[in-house]
Amino acid sequence: MNRKDFILKSCAACVGASSVAALLSSCAATKFTNGKLIKDGIVIDVKEFSLKEANKHRLYIVVRNDELLFPICVYRFSETDYSAVWMQCAHQGAELNVAGDYLQCPAHGSEYDNRGRVTSGPADRDLRTFPVTINNNQLFIDLRKT
Ligand code: FES
Repeated sequence: MNRKDFILKSCAACVGASSVAALLSSCAATKFTNGKLIKDGIVIDVKEFSLKEANKHRLYIVVRNDELLFPICVYRFSETDYSAVWMQCAHQGAELNVAGDYLQCPAHGSEYDNRGRVTSGPADRDLRTFPVTINNNQLFIDLRKT
C-alpha cells in the first residue's frame, strides 16, 4: 500500500470517503500564510488573495502562526468584505478543515458556513470570529474581539 492509499484508507475509516474527497480537493487549493502579528491582532496583505488571472481572487486563505493555538480562515466576499473564522470546533474543540466555502470538523462532522455559523451539528453554537478592517491594502484581524 502506498502512502496515498494509506492516508485515504485511514482517513476514510475515520470521517467517511466523501469528507476525504472534499478535504483532498480543498487542500490542493489552500493557500497558507503566517500573517504578521502586531499589537492586538494579525495583518495579512490583501494581495495574498490575488490569483494570476486578472480580477480573480482566492475564496479564502488560512492564517497559521506559531503564536496562535488554532488557524484562522479568512474568507473574501468582495473587495471590502472579509470574514475571519477561528478554526476550532465549537463542539469539543477539534481543529476544523476548510472544504471550499464551508468548514468541517473531522471529529464528529459538524459544519459551519463561511461566516462561522453552525449549519450542522452536533455543535450547537457558532465559531469564534474576529472583526476585519482594511487599511492600505492590508487586512487587520482584530484578535481582541469576537
Ligand atoms: S469536536 Fe467538532 S464535531 Fe465534535
